[in-house]
Amino acid sequence: MSVAAVTQLEAAALREIRQVQTPEALELLRVKYLGHKGDLTLILRGLKDLDPELRRQVGREANQAKAALETALAQALAALKAAARRAAAAEIDVTLPGRRPPLGRLHPITRTMQEICDIFLHLGFEAVEGPEVELDWYNFEALNLPPDHPARDMQDTFYFSDQVLLRTHTSPMQIRTMEQRRPPVRIIAPGRVYRRDSDLTHTPMFHQVEGLLVDKGITFADLKGTLTTFVHQMFGPEIGVRFRPSYFPFTEPSAEVDIECVICRGEGCRVCKVTGWLEILGSGMVHPAVFEAVGYDPEEFTGFAFGLGVERVAMLKYGIDDLRLFFDNDLRFLRQF
Ligand code: PHE
Repeated sequence: MSVAAVTQLEAAALREIRQVQTPEALELLRVKYLGHKGDLTLILRGLKDLDPELRRQVGREANQAKAALETALAQALAALKAAARRAAAAEIDVTLPGRRPPLGRLHPITRTMQEICDIFLHLGFEAVEGPEVELDWYNFEALNLPPDHPARDMQDTFYFSDQVLLRTHTSPMQIRTMEQRRPPVRIIAPGRVYRRDSDLTHTPMFHQVEGLLVDKGITFADLKGTLTTFVHQMFGPEIGVRFRPSYFPFTEPSAEVDIECVICRGEGCRVCKVTGWLEILGSGMVHPAVFEAVGYDPEEFTGFAFGLGVERVAMLKYGIDDLRLFFDNDLRFLRQF
């Protein structure tokens, strides 16, 4: 027995330990070298038969080798266990049922807006869009509402500055369109509008669809026919419609259109304020002063305009009696559409 033999044995054992793949194989190696009849154990047991000088040298070497092997075995076992844990965590259970991707849907206001637009698009109107942050000129002045006009009190406005505001209606799109085009004009303008107003039937932001038709020889009969056709397509031919004289500075004559309250079927409820009717739009023949503001000759052209409240239409269409439900974003409500 020699020191070199012990060193060789140790090196061979360490090599084998490094290559081991399973805890079971590691245990076999431990038994092979350090077990009861293990190679290193036998060397240690045979020390007593050696000469004292050799016994001292080989004994020191063998004890060092034993400690080195024990450490290497412990480290290898820990590494194998960690690898096994990682593999288990990465494993995919193919028997688990799949998770269905949640299906989105259009908000009822968006849907209603699209339905409204579809009806007018089929009637030959074209959709245009414009800014929600608007200039006083478009929102008021060009619509025959000069700065001191009392009708400005009808709409409580969010102002950014003297001249810049959140549009209170979609009517500025009438002006923006006419400034850019010559008749015939046949447009709708859907979008958000803002007013300082909040209760059961009013929210500070709501949606309108504006309509404008200008050509030679357009009359109030065209207005009435177009809007009656719209109501009947939207709510069915049996629904009651009425035109009520009204006032807007930018139309003359003006009319508001009510439809039968479909929530109470005309009986009277909190939504229709016990009248049996719900106002859904304002309308009228374009005022000559508006034509003048955009450079159209009022002697040559006539036209009608209307502004439709999308939330009102949606409430009636889906039988919803509280406007605020549209803005709560409660999924239990939204999932019903
Ligand atoms: N802009 C009006 C409103 O918001 C509605 C309207 C539009 C009336 C076009 C007449 C013509 O109340």
